[in-house]
Amino acid sequence: MKNIAVFASGNGSNFQAIVDARTRGTFKARLKLLVCDNPDAYVLKRAVKAKIKAFIVDRRDFLSKKDFEEQIIKKLKSEKIDLIVLAGFMRIVSAHFVKQYRNKILNIHPSLLPAFKGAHAIGDAFISGAKVTGVTVHFVDEMMDHGPIILQEIVKIKETDTKESLEARIHAVEHAVYPKAIKLFLDNRLRIRKAKVILRRG
Ligand code: GRF
Repeated sequence: MKNIAVFASGNGSNFQAIVDARTRGTFKARLKLLVCDNPDAYVLKRAVKAKIKAFIVDRRDFLSKKDFEEQIIKKLKSEKIDLIVLAGFMRIVSAHFVKQYRNKILNIHPSLLPAFKGAHAIGDAFISGAKVTGVTVHFVDEMMDHGPIILQEIVKIKETDTKESLEARIHAVEHAVYPKAIKLFLDNRLRIRKAKVILRRG
């Protein structure tokens, strides 16, 4: 069975959705580790409740980003992690980090990439006048919010929406989509060809 590490920095509703999906049997893997860079994050409480080991690494305790990441990589190696799931991890992983886990890092982003990259994707889509936005799960490469796209789901932006109501619908879609993408990875259904993900038949 494969070992998963989830990386999160804040609330951790996606972490929770992944924990719940595993409990329901949506996918089979060990949720071995939560990596968290924020000692005050609510996700840490969720990890205690789910009995998942948390590894807290505070960037302020390290002189450089490289040292910070090396500490994480060491832990991932010792836990024999096969898949890294970024779920609201508010740091950009370096090219060096990506190289260590090439095509084994997933990220979820609350827009239809390549539109609305960055930390304010939902608000940016809301004020843009776009009629649709959505959710993207993708492999992580060296660029921010970039890499071969695994799954996307559309979320309509209604005239009656507030930023908050849109946000709530996007999060609900995220919670359904991420476990699906994780399952596709674990079932070995994903092939990358010329920066595109080809879905193998199950
Ligand atoms: C999600 O919207 C995710 O797409 C983005 O960060 C947010 C994390 O939310 N990368 P949560 O901590 O999982 O509740």
